[in-house]
Amino acid sequence: MNISKRPRRLRSGSLLRKMVRETRVDVSSLVYPLFVVEGEGKKEEIGAMPGQYRYCVDRLSEVLEELQQAGVSAVMFFGIPDHKDEVGSGAYDPDGIVQRALRYTKEHYPDIYRIADLCMCEYTSHGHCGILCGENVDNDKTLEYLERIAVSQAQAGADMVAPSDMMDGRVAAIRAALDQNGFTQTPIMAYSAKFASSFYGPFREAAGSAPAFGDRKSYQMDYHNRLEALKEVQADIEEGADIVMVKPALAYGDLIREVRNMVQVPVAAYSVSGEYAMVKMAAAAGAVDQENIMCEMAASAYRAGADIYITYFAKELARCMKDGKIG
Ligand code: PBG
Repeated sequence: MNISKRPRRLRSGSLLRKMVRETRVDVSSLVYPLFVVEGEGKKEEIGAMPGQYRYCVDRLSEVLEELQQAGVSAVMFFGIPDHKDEVGSGAYDPDGIVQRALRYTKEHYPDIYRIADLCMCEYTSHGHCGILCGENVDNDKTLEYLERIAVSQAQAGADMVAPSDMMDGRVAAIRAALDQNGFTQTPIMAYSAKFASSFYGPFREAAGSAPAFGDRKSYQMDYHNRLEALKEVQADIEEGADIVMVKPALAYGDLIREVRNMVQVPVAAYSVSGEYAMVKMAAAAGAVDQENIMCEMAASAYRAGADIYITYFAKELARCMKDGKIG
């Protein structure tokens, strides 16, 4: 046979396959989302996310040790307060749950990089990501609160803040507030292209943050849209975002790629709770192999252009990276 191109030549053995691999990954790109709750001595498993827990601050060391042993050095904190109110005051309380987790981690695990998710939905009695005016989330009123939350997180020791509310103008507002308070060096990772997604279902159980009425479609994006995602990303960069995010990751590889091609800042992809739950449940039912599918999903996000990968599988992935199962 006279075949001029034989792509199989480069697939003949594992050493060669690794040599010509196009996507390389590194543990330093992993971020682990971490839920913290009030109280003492608690480590509660999240029903819809087997293997994920809500930790009290006094038990945080357990998971922080595990992460360090696996080689994961960045966490993103989500707080679950006991007290919720109309304005989400627990989010900017200097002694709030995330603020205490940040202070504890900074003091005892200074080598862990601390990112604070910046939103109100876990702290509001109505479960929306902002201040209500009737049944509508008031954009500009919410900005004032986001500014307070950002400053209080930075004061408590956040290395980076990550606004996930999807209000217009929040990056500029947060940047100005951080700068005015002396936090000019605190980067903002903006959840820029964040879609109104059913993939967040398990998270809302974990954080008790499902909206009490309506949905988030007036602020999170319609998943049919691509140009709008690019518009959001561009706006956030103009307002001063240091890193932009596409969320979820699994069904949005096209946008991770488009954003990567368009911008000059690092791009993060968030593999969300529903992605994790689907893998766990399907693996438990014997339908798929958990480790293989986790690696394949991660590689697809990196191949699409993600520089940072936020995942509930961070520990397991770090091990696979070390063993050479991925990248
Ligand atoms: C808060 C927030 C959510 C997630 C991250 N930040 C929930 C939501 O927007 O409803 C989802 C994360 C996940 O599903 O893993 N606004």
